[in-house]
Amino acid sequence: MTVSGAYDFDRPVERRGTDSQKWLRYAGRDVLPLWVADMDFLSPPAVLEALHDRVAHGVFGYGHPQPELEAAACADLQRNFGWQVDPQWLVWLPGLVSGLSVCCRAVGAPGDGVGVLTPIYPPFLKVPGLMDRTLETVPLAGDNDTGWRMEVRRLERGLSERARLLLLCHPHNPVGRLWSEPELRQLADLCLERRLVICSDEIHNGLILERDRRHVPLAMLGPEVAARTVTLVAPSKTYNIAGLGCALAVISDPDLRRRFRRAAAGIVPHPNVLGMAAATAAYAHGRPWLESLLDYLRANRDFLAARVADLPGVTMAPVEATYLAWLDVRSLGLDHPHAHFLAHGVGLSDGRDFGAEGYLRLNFGCRRELLAEACQRIEAAVKAAS
Ligand SMILES: Cc1ncc(COP(=O)(O)O)c(C=O)c1O
Repeated sequence: MTVSGAYDFDRPVERRGTDSQKWLRYAGRDVLPLWVADMDFLSPPAVLEALHDRVAHGVFGYGHPQPELEAAACADLQRNFGWQVDPQWLVWLPGLVSGLSVCCRAVGAPGDGVGVLTPIYPPFLKVPGLMDRTLETVPLAGDNDTGWRMEVRRLERGLSERARLLLLCHPHNPVGRLWSEPELRQLADLCLERRLVICSDEIHNGLILERDRRHVPLAMLGPEVAARTVTLVAPSKTYNIAGLGCALAVISDPDLRRRFRRAAAGIVPHPNVLGMAAATAAYAHGRPWLESLLDYLRANRDFLAARVADLPGVTMAPVEATYLAWLDVRSLGLDHPHAHFLAHGVGLSDGRDFGAEGYLRLNFGCRRELLAEACQRIEAAVKAAS
């Protein structure tokens, strides 16, 4: 058993028979669910306590973020990234995907282009079309072996004259990149030159697995970049409270903020009162739990990487951030990789949904024992394929 600090991430928590999307999909089947991005761990004790207190109060009318929550969110950004955020810049949301949609509605006009670097978290590919914008995909450079990179020249060539908005995923789901400052700077220069607004989805900013690297919020690159940036953040991934519906957009430019608010009006509900209680506690008191979680996730990542390294025909991208591993199984020559692994008892995310045929995404935010069992099943699936 590995107890990380004072927190026991090896402790089984039964999610079968609950409302878990991840576990319901394969209910009644012998399939280990390693797909949708939430973790099988209990949230930090401080979060559970705050939720108990809030439930004990017993009245659940319409809520509004309190100054305490705004201060806790701003203090988190200051402490972790040195980003000084004025509470007035915050726009509260029930989730990040709503934020991506609102951004598409807020920028440009129907038919205008929205740039996205692929492979990417599936809603990035769907939201522009749903909002009457035109999706413009530009592939990232590299692969699992050489490392994934954003090539700004490729982006420059790939975006049309009608592109008005770039949806950035930072850190990047699914390839696990924590974009570096020089990479971000080149991207930002291009966006300034082309007068693009950037929506930077930084939901995974707390899950940095590289010990010697820091997440750099895009908006910190300078005032001109900040003026064109909507940053989306949330405690949801970091503290495993994604089902509680509490996220925020940070928008320093008053005009952009006004356009964003207007695009959200009448459509996007307020954050959930329990979500706000959880978020306040997570930001204010969750750090010791998070440090332990990161150690556990690093060990899971290393364990998985070592097992994948022994599998012929499978490669895994280095995971600098997130708890998501991006596996390239193209060399196995399978017609339906997702179905093949599912038949061997592992429920992964299908790369096709991310715009990448022949890839699978594995969520290692689970107990090591379960991950080890999944690795055995994956090994059997690989053997059966060769
Ligand atoms: C990059 C990214 N953005 C957004 C989301 C979902 O955010 P929400 O549930 O707040 O809509 C996820 C969830 O996996 C994600 O990975």
